[in-house]
Amino acid sequence: MSVEIKHARLKKWIDEMAAMVQPENIYVCDGSKQEYNSMMQHAVDNGSAIPLKKRPNSFLFRSDPSDVARVEDRTYISTTNKIDAGPTNNWIAPAELKETMKGLYAGCMKGRTLYVIPFSMGPVGSPIAKIGIELTDSPYVVCNMHIMTRVGTKVLDVLGTDGEFIPCMHSIGAPLEAGQKDTPWPCAPIEKKYISHFPEEDLIWSFGSGYGGNALLGKKCLALRIASAMAKREGWMAEHMLILRLTNPEGKKFHIAAAFPSACGKTNLAMVMPTIPGWKAECIGDDISWMKIGPDGRLYAINPEAGFFGVAPGTAYYSNPMAMDTIKENVIYTNCALTDDGDIWWEGMDGDKPAHTIDWKGKDWTPASGTDAAHPNARFTAPAGQCPVICPDWEDPNGVPIDIFIFGGRRASVVPLVTEAYDWDHGVFMGATVASETTAANIGSVGNLRRDPMAMKPFCGYNMGDYFAHWLEMGDRLGKNAPKVFYVNWFRKDEKGRWLWPGFGENARVLKWMTERVEGKVSAVDTAIGRLPEIKEFDTTGLKIEEADMKELFRVDVNAYKNELPDIDKHFAQFGDRLPERLKTQLSKLAERLG
Ligand code: OXD
Ligand code: MN
Repeated sequence: MSVEIKHARLKKWIDEMAAMVQPENIYVCDGSKQEYNSMMQHAVDNGSAIPLKKRPNSFLFRSDPSDVARVEDRTYISTTNKIDAGPTNNWIAPAELKETMKGLYAGCMKGRTLYVIPFSMGPVGSPIAKIGIELTDSPYVVCNMHIMTRVGTKVLDVLGTDGEFIPCMHSIGAPLEAGQKDTPWPCAPIEKKYISHFPEEDLIWSFGSGYGGNALLGKKCLALRIASAMAKREGWMAEHMLILRLTNPEGKKFHIAAAFPSACGKTNLAMVMPTIPGWKAECIGDDISWMKIGPDGRLYAINPEAGFFGVAPGTAYYSNPMAMDTIKENVIYTNCALTDDGDIWWEGMDGDKPAHTIDWKGKDWTPASGTDAAHPNARFTAPAGQCPVICPDWEDPNGVPIDIFIFGGRRASVVPLVTEAYDWDHGVFMGATVASETTAANIGSVGNLRRDPMAMKPFCGYNMGDYFAHWLEMGDRLGKNAPKVFYVNWFRKDEKGRWLWPGFGENARVLKWMTERVEGKVSAVDTAIGRLPEIKEFDTTGLKIEEADMKELFRVDVNAYKNELPDIDKHFAQFGDRLPERLKTQLSKLAERLG
C-alpha cells in the first residue's frame, strides 16, 4: 500500500518530477519488511536477482558490464560560478545542466514505477540527522536504501507538513516501451550518465546508472557532496571517514575517525580485531562521519548510514572476520561470483578457489579462465546492526567524541607506517596532500598515484581550497580539544614486492601507539615529515617481524620526499588564491626541514 504524502512542498515536487519522467505508477515506500520482501521477490521473478541457497534472505544481482562503479568523470558540482566548484570537480552551469538533464529525464520512466523513498541520514529524529527524499525507478535502489539508510513512514512523520528535506532525483534512464522486454540491469550508456549536485539549492539529480554511489543517493551524493557544502556553511564537518571506538586494558575509551580513499581498507579498519591482549575495538561506521562541536567544545561524530556497502574482493576471515560474520544473512550482493552450491565467491576469499563458478557477467568460470570471477568492485550491502563488533553507542544521536584523526593512502613506497602531525595545521597539510594509488572503486585506470585530499577528492561538494580553509577554521574553533592527527600507510612493500607490514588486526598496534601519544605515555622522534615512533616503544610483542623491516617501516627517505615537493607545489597551485596561506607556510616548512 502506497503511503499518503501530507507535505505540500514534497507533493508538489513529486508531481513536477512525475510530469517530467511519466511513470506508469507512483509508489511511496513505507520502509516495512514486507515491502522489502515483496520487491525482492519481484526482482527474483523477473530474473534480476538470484536467491542464495547458502545465505538466508540474501540475493545476488549482476549489473550491466558498463555500470560497475562510481563515474567520477560524469559527476558534476553545478554552482553558479565555476570557481565555487573548484578545480577538482567537473562543472556545468546549473541552467545548462538542468536543460540537458530535463531532455534525458523526459519520459524516462515510461513503463516503470516511480518509487518515492523517504529516508533519514542519521537516527530518525536526531538533531544531527538530515532527511532526504529519493525518487527512483530502480527496485534495486529501493532495497539497498532500505539497508543503507532509515527508510519509510517514520521519516515522513518527522518531516510533518513543512519540514526540510533534500530532494534526490534518480532514474536508471531506460524507459520501457509497450511490449518491450526488460533486461536484468537496465541503465543508460556512459555518455548519458550524469551524477549532478546543485549545492546552492541542496539538490541532487542523477541519471543513467543503477550502481552504488551513483544511485544510492543518500551516500556519496547527500551525505558527502551536499552535506560537505552544508557543513561549510553551517560550521560542522562531513567527512569520508570510518569511526571506531578503541578501549585499552584499563578501560579507557578512545574514538578514532580515519579517512582513506575508496577501497583502501576503511571497512577492514572499522571492524579491526586487535591482536594485542586486552585491547578492544568496536565499529561505529565504515565510510562517512558527520561531526559537530558539542557543548563541551569537543568534536562529536555520528555515522549517518545504517549499513555497509563494502568492497567484496579481498574480504575474508584472514582480513576482516567481523565483516564475514556480518554478511551471513539479509545481504544484497552485487557482481560477485555464484558457486555451484548456491553461495557467493570472490577473489581473496579464504580457502581454495572453487573449481567452477558463474562469474559476475553470468558466464561459466574456472580458475583456468584467466579472468576475475567477481568484479574488483563487487559489493555487499549489509545492515550495520549485524556486525558482531558494532558499538553499543553507534546510534547515539549525540555521537561520540573524537580523539584521533587518521589520514592515509595506498603507497608501495616512500611513506612510513605511521607519522604524527606536529600540530593541527601540519595535520591539515598532511590530509591536503594525501596521495594514493587508484583502485577499482571508480571507473578508470587502477594503480596510478593521485592526490586525494582527506580522501574527499571525489566527494567534496565545493572548492577544495575553501574546504582546506574550513578544516583550518574548525581547528581554530576546537583549539586544545582538536583531535591529534596521524598519517598511516599499511601498504609499504620492499623492492621485491613483499608487504613489509602484516596489516589487518596488527594495525591495532599502530592505533595503540596513537592512543599512547594522546595520553603522553610514549615519546616520538621528530623528523622532517613529522613525529615517528621510537622503535623500542612501539609494541611488537608476539609479532614475528624482522628488525630490518621495522627500521624500513619507520625510515624517512628524505630524498624521496624532496622529489615529491614539486608535485605538492603543482597540486596546491591548482587552487590559486583559494589555497589558504597557512598551507603554503606548511609546504615551506616541510621543504626547510627536508633541507
Ligand atoms: C564507497 C566508495 O563506495 O568510496 O564507499 O567508493
Ligand atoms: Mn567510500
